[in-house]
Amino acid sequence: LIFNPSKKISMVTIDDVVRHALERGFFFPTAEIYGGLAGAYEYGPMGVRLLEGIVNERRKRFVFTVDFPVYEIHGSPLLPRAVFEASGHLEKFNDPMVQCKSCKSVYRADKLIEEKLGIDAEGLSLEEIGKIIKENDIRCPRCGGELSEPRRFNLMFKTYVGPVIDESSEAYLRPETAQNIFIAFRRVVNVFGGSLPFAIAQRGEAYRNEISPRRFLIRLRVFRQMEVELFTAPEQVREFSPLERFYDRKLRVLRKEGKEEEARVRDLRGKIPDTILYYAALESELFEAIGIDPNKIRFREIPEHARPHYSSFNLDAEVELSFGRVEVAGNAYRTDYDLKRHAEHAGISMEANYGNKRIVPHVTEPSIGIERLIYAILEHNLEDDGRGRKVLRLKPSVAPYDVAVFPLVKKLRPKALEIRRMLSESGLRVRYRDKGKIGKMYAWADMIGIPLAVTVDYDTLKDGTVTIRDRDTREQERVHIRDLADRIREILKNNRS
Ligand code: GAP
Repeated sequence: LIFNPSKKISMVTIDDVVRHALERGFFFPTAEIYGGLAGAYEYGPMGVRLLEGIVNERRKRFVFTVDFPVYEIHGSPLLPRAVFEASGHLEKFNDPMVQCKSCKSVYRADKLIEEKLGIDAEGLSLEEIGKIIKENDIRCPRCGGELSEPRRFNLMFKTYVGPVIDESSEAYLRPETAQNIFIAFRRVVNVFGGSLPFAIAQRGEAYRNEISPRRFLIRLRVFRQMEVELFTAPEQVREFSPLERFYDRKLRVLRKEGKEEEARVRDLRGKIPDTILYYAALESELFEAIGIDPNKIRFREIPEHARPHYSSFNLDAEVELSFGRVEVAGNAYRTDYDLKRHAEHAGISMEANYGNKRIVPHVTEPSIGIERLIYAILEHNLEDDGRGRKVLRLKPSVAPYDVAVFPLVKKLRPKALEIRRMLSESGLRVRYRDKGKIGKMYAWADMIGIPLAVTVDYDTLKDGTVTIRDRDTREQERVHIRDLADRIREILKNNRS
């Protein structure tokens, strides 16, 4: 059998990904020594690097290279009750749940139906859900017991600020980072002028008391979002000139009538709002840049009954995984819903400049979930040769290190450490290791996704050259130490695209 590094030999499952992520230091269960906290994971040292890579790539595209102003903020995850009264989350941010009458296990009712019958039950009424459960005799997956009538469960975590516990001190952990942006809107306009279009971006933690967290990083109670709220005049939602640069980009889209097509952005105009297409195009670019398989990305128009309460159009990004498609980003046209609600509830104006007028802007929002992207990256890039050897083919932009440095034998340690220091000082992210035989060290670097390894051998002492080994091609080249940092940078740059 000839090993072909470009060919995936055996299919990677969610269990493989979970095991790999835990064993290789990408994630740890939160409060592991006390039995864990369901729906929460800690980022381990490798995960922190992966997270950083995604955040940088997204910032480059959604903030730094944009043709209109994008202001970044970093807000408090804990917000007063008034914010969520205005936003509608207190009233409407809930999921249907059922409980087993025998073993008391709880389930998110629409997802249970989805799993049992393979139908989309999101957004159905409690009556409809109850009827489907009865008619299909859906029972508790754990013990086979009878399920209760469905009821609504609000997903927000509630707490109190200060020692007095009453409605005035009620506060909630934000279920989306977006609300910080809406409540900061007026100050941003006052300080920065605020001529439309402009955007406010934020990345941070969001919290949802999910009824049944599951599938590792897919449905969490503590997770991270990268959101942008784009503020425009209503007519700019349909005619958005920054979209022009993406006209020729192709997107795979499932329309709400059920038709799936791969089409150029220019041909989707008129069917999907320009501002939504703009962010879908940016997302497809981002997802590819961080190593999500482009053939497994699809955008899905969400039917009205399944849209969030604030949205009048949603085109969500989905990624195909070993257990089905999963939404990784929600792209919503939130109209003037949020700004108007906050204006009413806070009794202030929420306007910006448009030409010589003051108007309440309309909002388009791309909301990307970081952990779901990380899961997809791990699954799409983890390869198993069928003999237990795993390679994580991370793109350099999200790899935990740029390069590993190994001495061929321990005796060469001082030289290898000198080279490690030189590479680190040149700005590269370097990992040094001298445990075991060289083959084992390569395998170790492959498993955590380091794209390149430098080996220091006896010739290094004689002629000042080292070997660079490429994780993906396994090709090796000999380079002089004085050219090493530049050559590594060059290889990484070529692998980025
Ligand atoms: N501000 C809009 C908003 O929050 P959403 O569709 O509810 O929209 C956006 O969430 C993204 O956040 C999702 O596409 C997903 O990637 C991520 N997300 C939402 N709930 C999550 C959860 N329980 N666990 C992990 N990621 C989640």
